[in-house]
This record gives sequence, C-alpha cells and structure tokens, in this order.
Amino acid sequence: MEKTFLMIKPDGVQRNLIGMIVSRFEQKGYKLIASKLMTITEHLAKTHYAEHDGKPFFNDLVSFITSGPVFAMVWEGENVIDMSRKMMGGKTNPQEAEIGTIRGDYGVVMHRNIIHGSDSSESADREINLFFDHAELQQYNKNIDNWLS
Ligand code: PPS
Repeated sequence: MEKTFLMIKPDGVQRNLIGMIVSRFEQKGYKLIASKLMTITEHLAKTHYAEHDGKPFFNDLVSFITSGPVFAMVWEGENVIDMSRKMMGGKTNPQEAEIGTIRGDYGVVMHRNIIHGSDSSESADREINLFFDHAELQQYNKNIDNWLS
C-alpha cells in the first residue's frame, strides 16, 4: 500500500493545528502508521531539503524548519501521495491554495505554509527513511478498511 511522509511545520505546531490536521487525514480514510513530535537538527533540515540548496529561500527555510518542534508522520492508503497534496492545498503558497484545503484554510504567507508532503514515491521513500526507522512503521488492520475499497 502506498505511503507518504507528511510533516506539520513549526507554525502548525505553534498554532495548535496538529489535531485538526491528523483528523482530516483520518476522516478521509488514510491510516497513520508512524508519528513523532521532534525538533529537526540543521543537518537533517539540510538533508531533507537538499534539492533546494542554493535557492534564495534555502537559508530561511532551514531556519524556519529548525525553529521549533515539527510533527512528523507517515500515512498509508490508496493514492495517498497525490491525494494528501491536494488536501494540503496543491500550491506551495497559501494565498494560491483553494479554500477547503489545509493551506487554503489556515495559511496566510508563503514562508509559513503549515505542512510539508512528499511529492513523489521516490521522495516519500527517501523522506520516510530520513525521519523514521523501519521498525517505527506500524502494520495493522482496521475494520474500516473493508469500507474503503
Ligand atoms: S521550487 O523552487 O519551486 O521547487 O520551490 P517550492 O516547491 O515552491 O518550495 C520548496 C520548499 O521551500 C519552501 N519555501 C520557503 N520556506 C521558507 N521561506 C521561504 N521564503 C520559502 N519559499 C519556499 C516551500 O514551502 C517548500 O517547502 P515544503 O516543505 O516542500 O512545502
């Protein structure tokens, strides 16, 4: 089953949005298989965002993501990578994200956009392995699974 890495950024944690965000993905029908509240080291931040190294916003991005705890998660389900990005808002900039999405409903400015989500299966594998040990990923069934396929 497809897995993705989602991370509530320091602004989302500070603004008490963890519960609401987890609830949206649970209610959609996706399964949480790992999560942790953690503070990202500068090294982990630079590794996670390595593809953006050299871009004008890179230093601000690293400072922001290491500025306070984040809530890292792994979610599992049918087409969860694309669907979770739609639920986040599609666009990076909350000003461009549709109302009804996480960034559209709760974000105001680009550099505080509340949540990160993997953009491909390759990114998801890489990011899950960066943030979690394999043993931390739970395998379990819910009865609700019968109603989703
Ligand atoms: S790009 O160049 O189009 O690939 O960049 P983009 O996908 O828009 O953004 C990549 C990530 O950088 C974050 N970002 C910023 N963070 C802080 N400050 C500023 N100014 C800024 N600009 C972009 C953006 O939210 C993306 O982070 P993730 O976690 O992947 O959503």
